[in-house]
Amino acid sequence: MSDLERERREIAAALQQPGVSPDPSLRLTRRIFLHKSCILGAATVGQTFGWWPLLNTIDVAYAAEEPFKFAWISDTHLYQKSVNTRFVEKITRAAKEVQAMNPPADFLIFGGDIAQLGKPEELELGVEILKEVKAPQHFIPGEHDWYLDMGAKWGQLFGQPHWTFDHKGVRFVGLDTVSRGPDYWTARKMSPEERMDHMADLDGSVAGPWAGVGRDQLDWLEKTLADWDKSRPVVIFTHNPLYEYYPPWNFWVRDWREVQAVLQPYANVTNIHGHVHQVLYNEIGTMRSIGMLATAWPWPYAPEGVPKLTVPMIRADPGDFYDGVGWSDISMKNDRIENEYIMWGRKQVFVQSAPDSSLSQPEVLRPRIADRIGPY
Ligand SMILES: [Fe+2]
Ligand SMILES: [Fe+2]
Repeated sequence: MSDLERERREIAAALQQPGVSPDPSLRLTRRIFLHKSCILGAATVGQTFGWWPLLNTIDVAYAAEEPFKFAWISDTHLYQKSVNTRFVEKITRAAKEVQAMNPPADFLIFGGDIAQLGKPEELELGVEILKEVKAPQHFIPGEHDWYLDMGAKWGQLFGQPHWTFDHKGVRFVGLDTVSRGPDYWTARKMSPEERMDHMADLDGSVAGPWAGVGRDQLDWLEKTLADWDKSRPVVIFTHNPLYEYYPPWNFWVRDWREVQAVLQPYANVTNIHGHVHQVLYNEIGTMRSIGMLATAWPWPYAPEGVPKLTVPMIRADPGDFYDGVGWSDISMKNDRIENEYIMWGRKQVFVQSAPDSSLSQPEVLRPRIADRIGPY
C-alpha cells in the first residue's frame, strides 16, 4: 500500500464513520437515484457516458423557517470591454435572469473570480453590471480578484472577505479561501502582474497549494457557529471546495481536515462553492458540497476522477460559448434545499449519450482515487 493510499484510508476512517452522513433525513429523489444508478453502471462496464442536466436538482432535507430563494453567480472572469465582450455579455445575461426570478431572490451571492486579471477596471465593471440585480449582494473573493494588488481594490469595493448573517432560520457564512497562498513571489522578485499570471493558471505549479482557510479564519468560524444549534442548517459559501477534490488545480483547500474538524459537530452543513466551473457534488463527514457553474467557461473534470456522488455534466462543446456555463437558482422550501443549475445551451434534461465518438481520446469519468479504495 502506498503512503498516499494509507493516508487516504486513515483520513476516510476518521471522517467517514459508520452512520455519519450530512443529514440523517437526506432524501434521494427519483432523479438523483437514476443518476447514481447511471454512474455506477457506467463504472461497472467501463463505458463512457454523459448526462445533460438542464435542471439538476439536489433535494436535501432542511429546516428553513419559511420558503425562500437566493441566487449564485460566480466565475465571470471579466476583462475590460476593450479586450473581450463575450464574458461581459454572459454576466449581463445572468444578472438579468437573476433579476427576473419569480419568486424573486432574497439575495445574491457572488462566489469569486469576478475579474480575470484582478484589474480595478475589471472589478468595477462587474459591480456596474451587477447593479441590474436589486436584491442585497454578498461577495467572496476568487484568486483572479486578489493577486494583482493582494485584495486592496477588492476590499475597497466589497469589504471583509468573510462574513455571516442569519436568514429565515439558516445561518449563512462566507469564507475567504484565496488570500493565504504561500509567498512564491518575493524571493523571485516578481512584479504584481507576474504574480497574477501564475494565479491565472489552472495547473498552478508555481503558485502551489494556494487555497486555504487559515487558522485565524477557522477560529473565527468556530466562534461564529458556537451559538448556533447543532441541528440547524448552516450554509457556507467559498470559492474553493472545502474538501480534497484535485489539489494540482487547487480544487480543494489545503487545510480541509481542520475545516472538517470545526464543522463535525454540526449535522446540517452545506458548502456551496465556485472555482471548479462544473457540476459537482460530494459528501464528506457531515457536510455536503455543491459545485457551481461559471458564466465564463467550463473546466474539464479532474483527470483522477470525480467524487463518487457527482453526476457529471457532459463535456462542453468548445464551439459553443454558451455551452456548459450558467448560474444557480437555489430554493429553500418545505424543509429542503433545491439547487437548480441554470445551464445555458442545454436542450434536454438527463439524456444519456453514447460514448462521445468525436473525441480522439474519450473522456473516462470514474470515481476519484479517494472513493475507489474502500471499504474502510
Ligand atoms: Fe474561476
Ligand atoms: Fe478560481
